[in-house]
Amino acid sequence: MIFETHAHYDDEAFDEDRASLLCSMQENGIGRIINVSASLESLARTSELMESYPFLYGAFGLHPDEVGDLNEAVMEQLYMRCQKEKAVAVGEIGLDYYWDKESHDQQIYWFRRQLNLAREVHLPVIIHSRDAAADTLRVMREEKSEEIGGVIHCFSYSREMAEQYLAMGFYLGIGGVVTFKNARKIREVVEAAPLDRLLLETDSPYLAPVPYRGKRNCSLYLPYVVEKIAEIKGICEEEVIAVTEKNAERLFLKEVK
Ligand code: NI
Repeated sequence: MIFETHAHYDDEAFDEDRASLLCSMQENGIGRIINVSASLESLARTSELMESYPFLYGAFGLHPDEVGDLNEAVMEQLYMRCQKEKAVAVGEIGLDYYWDKESHDQQIYWFRRQLNLAREVHLPVIIHSRDAAADTLRVMREEKSEEIGGVIHCFSYSREMAEQYLAMGFYLGIGGVVTFKNARKIREVVEAAPLDRLLLETDSPYLAPVPYRGKRNCSLYLPYVVEKIAEIKGICEEEVIAVTEKNAERLFLKEVK
């Protein structure tokens, strides 16, 4: 079944139908979901979801736009949440120079701290990187991230950059953007990258694939992403689903039963 590796079901966009939507996932072929926290408030909500739904796992970390809320007490909270049985990653963490909500120095400082948290708790990382390709790669190399492992979520850089991350042992998260008309760059990346290094993700409620572009996204739309990857790689959809599911199990579930 499809393994959804990046969604934000704690988002208020799901307040009206969260339970019924999540309960419909497995009958529609979505086997497992990782709910990724981003803000301080989303940490507790992700824990609650993880405890309520057997097929849902949690990732804990603060998004680069949110690191203004980070301090030692929050780092301690992250550490505690990462110890839970169904905590499978530290994320989403990284650098965002597009929105630039916090200074680059602050973003880099907390990115390093959260990379080292992942090392300490033996979890992979979910990386958010926007308009910050060079600094992201530099910090990851300086922190020896090849020993930590993880995924570059919503991969949006060039094929050359993809090769650098793949060489570090990282996976690439592929979502709705691959179905967009102007997504030539990401289609080149999907074509060049080995299938056993790709992960399926939505970033719900954001980035819905065509034909739902601009609407609220949810994991039920992942078949459109699967269809596009299968088309680009010239393989069947079943193979895309099976291989990406194995990839996600290998990266995230090695210690979870
Ligand atoms: Ni996200």
